[in-house]
Amino acid sequence: MKSPSATPNESPRRSFLKASAITGGALLADLDIARFAHAAGSDEVKIALVGCGGRGTGAAANSLGNTTHGNIRLIARADAFRDRLDSSCKTLETQFKQKVDVSEAGKFVGLDAYKGVLESEADTVLLVTPPGFRPMMFEAAVKAGKNVFMEKPVAVDAPGYRRVLAANAEAKRKGLVVAVGHHLRHATNHRNVIRLIHDGLIGELQYTRSYFNTSGIWNRARKDGMTEMQYQIHNWYHFIWLSGDHIVEQHVHGIDVCNWIAQGHPVEAVGMGGRQVRAERGVGEIFDHHAVQYTYANGVRSFSECRQIPKCWPSFSHHAHGSKGYVSFEGGNDNVTIFLKGKEPQRLKGGPDGHQTEWDDLLAGLRARQPYNEVDWAADSTMSALLGRMATYSGRLVTWDDAVKSELTYAPGQLAWDAEPKSRPGPDGIYPCAIPGVTKAF
Ligand SMILES: NC(=O)c1ccc[n+]([C@@H]2O[C@H](COP(=O)([O-])OP(=O)(O)OC[C@H]3O[C@@H](n4cnc5c(N)ncnc54)[C@H](O)[C@@H]3O)[C@@H](O)[C@H]2O)c1
Repeated sequence: MKSPSATPNESPRRSFLKASAITGGALLADLDIARFAHAAGSDEVKIALVGCGGRGTGAAANSLGNTTHGNIRLIARADAFRDRLDSSCKTLETQFKQKVDVSEAGKFVGLDAYKGVLESEADTVLLVTPPGFRPMMFEAAVKAGKNVFMEKPVAVDAPGYRRVLAANAEAKRKGLVVAVGHHLRHATNHRNVIRLIHDGLIGELQYTRSYFNTSGIWNRARKDGMTEMQYQIHNWYHFIWLSGDHIVEQHVHGIDVCNWIAQGHPVEAVGMGGRQVRAERGVGEIFDHHAVQYTYANGVRSFSECRQIPKCWPSFSHHAHGSKGYVSFEGGNDNVTIFLKGKEPQRLKGGPDGHQTEWDDLLAGLRARQPYNEVDWAADSTMSALLGRMATYSGRLVTWDDAVKSELTYAPGQLAWDAEPKSRPGPDGIYPCAIPGVTKAF
């Protein structure tokens, strides 16, 4: 079983010091020192945002409002749609007047807008578009020599996962800082208690459980005159080539925590799921529920479910069970409760928001000029979610090795506003979805 690399269960600030002490000059010798030129002259970090939606605007605000590196400026922004760019600009320019460059020259619109950002003087880019674009944009950002913060998931299919790993090898060679938006890895109680679990808090790990059960997700209506491509990118959550389905887009948070606890990725999965409620006309092709049983190399199992159906049991939580007791983590607020046999439950109140501390840690990394790369375990968590989707779509037992080799992609051959996506509604206006036992899913 692979052990997770970098920052899984300790403060990155501590990791930098450790890495420095252990490997010192050897690591630094491999770095492209030019990456840190800003630190030699001005220590200003110049950031640029690709994908100016809800999380992109939030991540930019977290970066500008960080507590570890005050000298930071947002110099460029890109979005596929002008209205999304404008509303994000308005929010950030109001909130962080002194830290945002407002010139039109730093604003780019369209499917290729990210290229403008990569040509800018930004040293760090935030990739926060729908995840279907992540492998392409991460690869381009690494090629351009940028440090990267990218949101989870990092891919929506196995070819994308492999592309991200290949680009990351180049990022490591260049000494780039790369962070992935798994904020729970930077949430104080998650981090401290999972370290204790690894040290034996609950005895031998027996199994984990994980839930991302909600009442549903937004659905953006088709606007007059939109091409099919414009509509799908506008309403991206509901198309596999853009979101990966909610087991990948959303539940990857809990799957990642279970991998973190198990110190590796699953080796096989079985599951079931379907689209029982979300079948009304005009809504896309993803399932509304998935239930997966993952098995790790040492036989530990993870029971994992996600649902987007109203009026059902809601829970965003994950739980680790061992021979001496169990721990429950509330994913939304970092509340953690430890239940040890024969003892009173110990409740830990939520710590600071991981969306902020992930930026504090990343910027401390930039400032410390130490290797900081979260991609290996984050990519494996994305791949674990994809493995689960392959199991629920196909209805078959799917092994990690087969899943990783999959060549199946849902992406269109060409990316242009007038190009045809592969997924099309039927004559009844309904997009087809996977049928277990029938559909080829990997
Ligand atoms: N870590 C977290 O807690 C968390 C929370 C929410 C979302 N996310 C992740 O953040 C990402 C974005 O989600 P969101 O909720 O902000 O969605 P959103 O729809 O609000 O924003 C996405 C933005 O990307 C733009 N976009 C689409 N295609 C583009 C392209 N080719 N080039 C440039 N811009 C493009 C859209 O126009 C939109 O403004 C997703 O990967 C999602 O999983 C993470």
